[in-house]
Amino acid sequence: MSGPQRIEINEVGPRDGLQIEQAMVATDDKVAFVDALSACGFARIEVTSFTSPKAIPALADAQEVMRRIARRPGVIYTALIPNIRGLERALEVGVDEMNLVMSCSETHNRANLRMTREQSFAELAGILRLAVEAGKPCNVSLSTAFGCPFDGEVAASDVMALAQRLAQAGAQGITLCDTTGMAYPTQVAQLCERFQRELPATALTVHLHNTRGMALANAMAAWQTGVWRFDAAAGGLGGCPYAPGASGNVNTEELVHMFECMGVQTGVTLTRLLDIVRALPQLVQRGLSNALVTAGPRLTTHQPPAWLAERFPAA
Ligand code: COA
Ligand code: ZN
Repeated sequence: MSGPQRIEINEVGPRDGLQIEQAMVATDDKVAFVDALSACGFARIEVTSFTSPKAIPALADAQEVMRRIARRPGVIYTALIPNIRGLERALEVGVDEMNLVMSCSETHNRANLRMTREQSFAELAGILRLAVEAGKPCNVSLSTAFGCPFDGEVAASDVMALAQRLAQAGAQGITLCDTTGMAYPTQVAQLCERFQRELPATALTVHLHNTRGMALANAMAAWQTGVWRFDAAAGGLGGCPYAPGASGNVNTEELVHMFECMGVQTGVTLTRLLDIVRALPQLVQRGLSNALVTAGPRLTTHQPPAWLAERFPAA
């Protein structure tokens, strides 16, 4: 069993995580969250989204957050962009890399972005043209790539056709998003293999949700086909407010822990990340159960029971 010996993580907690939280997180606290994440060793941090404040009120302060975070050299700060207006706002505050978004399925695109897929494609093609002029790299996140909570099964050929068109329009990378945790490992492996075969020059990222408990298994399946870029959210926060039943992203700490156990470098300092995760219930004002915080990393050992020394005295 093998895969790439090094992976890169795009921490999406400040965007995918906070977009769905009920509690309004103060701008100061968002900035502090991103700054703390910046010290963990992530390749990328998705700081916010430049969406309509009516659609995503939780991230209405996107520009202020971007302006106030401390940019750490070596970290790429990205943001989600659904339309040209979003690009304009993102350019004003110097986002390093744009993460455009549309869905593979028609109904989710309409529910989430209030456009048909063709309208979204036209919008994204316009963004790609402008971003090239501005010298900004663009990735496109394709929602519902493994299934849609409205339309059900999504054909791999539809996903690939859309990815091809976006790559031709100038997208440097594509993220295959499992918006509501419908993906399963063999499906992930097949689509990732096909993607890398048919679009070898396009950077592939996988974005998983743990809605049905398969996120880590799906990450393994992707990695085994050669995928080395993953989105993940600290504490397993996250979910799309316009996808019924959406729940958290793959936990960053569990992803880091799993890969580091296997000797795969993630660049992320787990102890630092776990400190952030412990503080998340305070940030989002709700309880969060967390297996790794409870159990500790796998070599967390415990004092043996005191009676063992009496029963088995040293020879
Ligand atoms: N940033 C800020 N404001 C924006 C904006 C953007 N990117 N895009 C549109 N707006 C504003 C418009 O100026 C307009 O404001 P007004 O009512 O004060 O005049 C209002 O939002 C409606 O604009 P319109 O172009 O008609 O947008 P819409 O209502 O059709 O919504 C989207 C389209 C794409 C902007 C919206 O659906 C959206 O932001 N969706 C994002 C969903 C999301 O992030 N989901 C989770 C991640 S997958
Ligand atoms: Zn997501």
